[in-house]
Amino acid sequence: MANIWLLSLLFLITLLVLAAFKRSKSQKHRIPPSPPSFPIIGNLHQIGELQHQSLWNLSKKYGPVMHMKLGKVPTVTLSSSDTARQALKDHDLDCCSRPTLAGPKALSYNYLDIGFSPYNDYWKDIRKLAVMELFSNKKVHSIQPIKEEEVKKLMDSMAESASQQTPVNLNVKLLTLTASIVCRATFGVTFEDTLLSDNNLGEIVREAYEMMASFSASDFIPYVGWIIDRFTGLVGRREKSVRDLDAFYEQMFDMHKEVKERGSEDFVDMLLRMEKEKTVIGNGKLTRNHVKAILMDVLLAGIDTSSITMTWAMTELARNPRVMKKVQSEIRNQLGNNKSMISIEDTDKLCYLKMVIKETWRLHPPAPLLVAKEVINDFEVNGYTIPSKTLLQVNVWAIGRDPNTWKDPEIFLPERFIDSNIDTKGQNFELLPFGAGRRICPAIYMGTTMVEFGLANMLYNFDWKLPEGMAVEDIDVDEAPGLTVSKKNDLLLVPVNPKRRNDRNPPSPPGFPIIGNLHQIGELPHQSLWNLSKKYGPVMHLKLGKVPAVILSSPEAARQALKDHDLDCCSRPHLAGPGELSYNYVDIAFSPFGDYWKDIRKLAVQEVFSNKKVHSIQPIKDEEVKKLIDSMAESASKQTPVNLNDTLLTLTASVLCRASFGVTFEDTLLSNNNLGQIVREAYEMTGSFSASDFIPYVGWLVDRFTGLKGRRDKSVRDLDEFYEQMFDMHTEGKEKGSEDFVDMLLRLEKEETVIGNGKLTRNHIKGILMEERREGWANGREEKWALNT
Ligand code: HEM
Repeated sequence: MANIWLLSLLFLITLLVLAAFKRSKSQKHRIPPSPPSFPIIGNLHQIGELQHQSLWNLSKKYGPVMHMKLGKVPTVTLSSSDTARQALKDHDLDCCSRPTLAGPKALSYNYLDIGFSPYNDYWKDIRKLAVMELFSNKKVHSIQPIKEEEVKKLMDSMAESASQQTPVNLNVKLLTLTASIVCRATFGVTFEDTLLSDNNLGEIVREAYEMMASFSASDFIPYVGWIIDRFTGLVGRREKSVRDLDAFYEQMFDMHKEVKERGSEDFVDMLLRMEKEKTVIGNGKLTRNHVKAILMDVLLAGIDTSSITMTWAMTELARNPRVMKKVQSEIRNQLGNNKSMISIEDTDKLCYLKMVIKETWRLHPPAPLLVAKEVINDFEVNGYTIPSKTLLQVNVWAIGRDPNTWKDPEIFLPERFIDSNIDTKGQNFELLPFGAGRRICPAIYMGTTMVEFGLANMLYNFDWKLPEGMAVEDIDVDEAPGLTVSKKNDLLLVPVNPKRRNDRNPPSPPGFPIIGNLHQIGELPHQSLWNLSKKYGPVMHLKLGKVPAVILSSPEAARQALKDHDLDCCSRPHLAGPGELSYNYVDIAFSPFGDYWKDIRKLAVQEVFSNKKVHSIQPIKDEEVKKLIDSMAESASKQTPVNLNDTLLTLTASVLCRASFGVTFEDTLLSNNNLGQIVREAYEMTGSFSASDFIPYVGWLVDRFTGLKGRRDKSVRDLDEFYEQMFDMHTEGKEKGSEDFVDMLLRLEKEETVIGNGKLTRNHIKGILMEERREGWANGREEKWALNT
């Protein structure tokens, strides 16, 4: 009995000692303030869809070092620049690992990537390799031509929207831009050739982002979490997302295997070579899964972050017209008005643009909580202990809005960075869009140059206005949830070709009122203009009556217009002759630039002008040339002259009629003299000077008075009769082996095929055939010139 008492006493003393020890320990280890929590779920119920915003609101009450239990996971969130500095600078080595979470685990093939790998030798080796081979300044400069091409494509498509005054969906356009650059620069493949093309980009990449960041109950809720994930369908979605990305990687590997004739090894080639050579990275050999995981980083970290930044920047600029105007003035004043594309070197001069981007990152950091870290060793922040195994988040979104750091934090004010040394390289903890410390984004230079380059070009080349009926106040800044936070609602803006303030008119010969310079143009305009250009230079401005005209007469001027600014000048003017002969511009050559022209030109290229088609008509050409040679041989034997104008016109007419129209020219209204008559007259009517085009008010009277109008109407009637005859010949059911071009057009008309924005009609067909006749027979003239010279 005495023993029992003794034992009980000993037990009690031990308990008291332990309790005292624990108390003294917890006094030494101060736990950060924490909102009240529930058993099992802890503080999960206090976290909304936009986690960074929930944490920001809670931090206002519980301070910049806040402890929470997310289910079973102890979490600390830091929400001030000073606490971020303590963790990411003073104690970086204690907190630079990553937590294990189901989404990242699945997508990174069990943490084999850079971003989610725990802190270890593998991570150090693979990050070093990526920095050298992908993110170094030298590598970033080497991909500049790709960036330029892709930005040029974007500018072209925006120019098209500008000409049609239709809004551009900047979320979509900018995501496509960065995807195209990253795919070509890193993977060596054109994004459109892969499974990611079209809608799949949004679908596959966005879903992967969601799966990466989505709340997985199994991570936080003990025992039953995994059941919840199955029940909610999350596991199924995650598995599908992994499968979709895997299929993309495999497709890319196949494309790399198909031995393309490439000059140099790209990043994927290099990883595949290292896999083949069984290179050791960390403590093991590089496998196919390592390669896929590393590519996942580039795909997901590289595409979204830059496009999100550009979209937010454009959103803030649209909401702040003063800033928009100022940044555009800077770009245009610094770089002049004559550039077709701003270069990466040019962006160095754009201080205000850089401030705009910093201000965008202050309010809209693409990764508002960076990427969660796991604490390796206990350390202290503001005197509070953060124990090992804690999940650590740095709320850079909250830091950007901290009134203790920023004056009027809610206002978008790039000027706050004037005379400030704050940069985004991880040394200034009030602005951390790329993070800081060992885990800082390794692609700061790549990301920053991509954003600066893209924005500078968009702002230089276009003014931006809101879609019809929308006011500045209607532009929202709602965020979409995720690891990276994009603009929830698409940003739609209408690009406008800017009026250049310093527009200079090119040199011009003196003109008269009403007629302008018309009196200086002779019967052969190209020769008159050539003579004038000797005096007024290779870019010369004329007024042809009421019509302003610019004539380019040097290879450099031609290059600038037809290469650099092709999209700005590839439409056609409205002129009476072409208008009537082309049935109101429904042909190819005189049609204005637009969807109809694009569709019909594509069709003609496929069906008439392709190398294959041209080769297929070779037997016809052979036969007709043979006929020509025979007739020339006859003249040779008689020693009589050959009229080359007529003979060569007949040759090309014969070839063209048979090849494109499927009829023998001699069977048509064009035979004998009519060819010269009808075709030459049509040429003249297309090219003739029509006073109504140039002389205001009375021009049409002049055309009637001179008889031009009557001649033009007759020419249209003659050609129309020829087309009708040809259609009749086609419908008279000839036994033809295969469908010719006219058959095809007639079939498309019958099937009510939509070309451009409307159905193909009989007049469209005539317009298109007018083109065939014009282009084809023009070759006859070229052949004659060749013989003359
Ligand atoms: C505007 C552009 C970008 C922004 C704002 C950005 C931001 C970030 C942030 C916040 C992190 C997490 C840092 C941390 O954990 O503390 C990160 C990590 C990373 N970023 Fe970026 N990033 C950008 C562009 C890119 C690009 C273009 C690539 C690759 C092509 C890239 C690749 C990575 C990788 C691999 C990591 C993981 C680093 C590690 O854990 O060691 N990023 N980035």
